[in-house]
Amino acid sequence: MHTSGAATRRCVVWFGQPDRAEQDALALAGWPVRVADAGSDGVGIRNGDIVVALADLRVDDRGVHEAMERMVAEHPGVPWIALVSPETPAREPTVKRVLRDCIDFFTSPIDTERLQQALARLSGSGRLRGGGPADIAGMVGESRVMHQLRATIRKYAPVDLPVLITGETGTGKEVAASALHRLSARAERPFVPINCGALPPNLVQSELFGHERGAFTGANARRVGHIESASGGTVFLDEIGDLPLDAQTSLLRFLQEGTFERLGSSQPIRADVRVLAATHVDLEKAVAEGRFREDLYYRLNVLRLPMPPLRERGGDVELLAQFFLEQFRQQHRTGQPVSFSASARRAMRAFAWPGNVRELLNRVQRAAVVAEGPLIDTADLDLPAQPAERSVAAGLGEARILAERDAILACLRETRFNISECARRLRISRVTVYRLCKKHRLALDELR
Ligand SMILES: Nc1ncnc2c1ncn2[C@@H]1O[C@H](COP(=O)(O)OP(=O)(O)OP(=O)(O)O)[C@@H](O)[C@H]1O
Ligand SMILES: [Mg+2]
Repeated sequence: MHTSGAATRRCVVWFGQPDRAEQDALALAGWPVRVADAGSDGVGIRNGDIVVALADLRVDDRGVHEAMERMVAEHPGVPWIALVSPETPAREPTVKRVLRDCIDFFTSPIDTERLQQALARLSGSGRLRGGGPADIAGMVGESRVMHQLRATIRKYAPVDLPVLITGETGTGKEVAASALHRLSARAERPFVPINCGALPPNLVQSELFGHERGAFTGANARRVGHIESASGGTVFLDEIGDLPLDAQTSLLRFLQEGTFERLGSSQPIRADVRVLAATHVDLEKAVAEGRFREDLYYRLNVLRLPMPPLRERGGDVELLAQFFLEQFRQQHRTGQPVSFSASARRAMRAFAWPGNVRELLNRVQRAAVVAEGPLIDTADLDLPAQPAERSVAAGLGEARILAERDAILACLRETRFNISECARRLRISRVTVYRLCKKHRLALDELR
């Protein structure tokens, strides 16, 4: 065990061999590294230390695996991050367990920016002693727009006014509505989402406000509407643009006076309910075309929450992808795949995501089923491939090596590891295929 600096309050315990650049990047981010390798006699954690364990699984080293075993046994509460590569010995029991339990994965060369974000998120989640304030559960994202969005949600939540949530399909409008409710004083009372577009137009009034027995043919009993049942809580009117005009009038009255009538009754009922609404259509246009009441529009539009499209959230696409993969692995108790290849990350960053977060979720789930190795690749996500960036001269050599490695690995997979076929397709000899596998540390037995 080498300890970099005395009395460190927080640190990453690195199981394996970090290179100088990796150690420096973490130290700069305020996370000094302690290396625990085969020769370590203990990991030297003191009381009060804030510790994250990093399993460097790029190499297959028994001694390091044993040190990891000791760490798991002696410090069960410490969160793990894994650094994987296609050579990761995924069937080794210790490695298997770390892969199953760890909270995030990285590939080599390590994306230090994303690692810093993961560590910052951990600090913020309260999973580490001394962590910061708890974040809004269920809303993943560290981009500037997402930080702004969360700040706005915190500001709007305690104010008992309507909020109009706008944004493209799949951007998380319902997630935001639910966060507004949970952060409000109404959190213990019901949150009732209603999809206005899915209700038959002739039943909308009765669904929202209820009806008395005999109010219309088929109304055999009195029915309490959604607004009444949300009493003390929040209703979320999704696709508000689809609300028929008569229901718009009743809603406007409810927003102005706090009262409504059940269908078939003239008895006003008072309910204390906050109204949140969402739309993915242009309500201003609906107003201009006479399909939406202008006065209702102004009532609902007091506080506005625009959800940013996924393509404007920078690196969040990768964070979310990893988050959804984690969820999938936990729900389906699968060991593989554990992360995304560099080319898959590039493809995800470049894609326009018309279906936003929901589309990403669907693609990751599908990829998690079809991917064959430890890393999800571009083809598994069914995304168009993006050429590697070759802007920096220094990176060019590395890019070529990576491209060569990608090419040989892709061809091996396509030929189902038939070496002769792979050699034929690449127009090289079988000996060269073996040599390249060795050069790029592609362990054929592990990959097959
Ligand atoms: N920031 C986020 N972090 C994690 N999951 C998210 C996030 N945003 C959205 N999701 C997930 O993406 C999916 C779509 O979100 P949601 O249903 O809230 O979108 P929406 O804007 O209401 O979509 P639509 O317009 O189609 O109704 C859900 O499964 C939701 O849990
Ligand atoms: Mg929705």
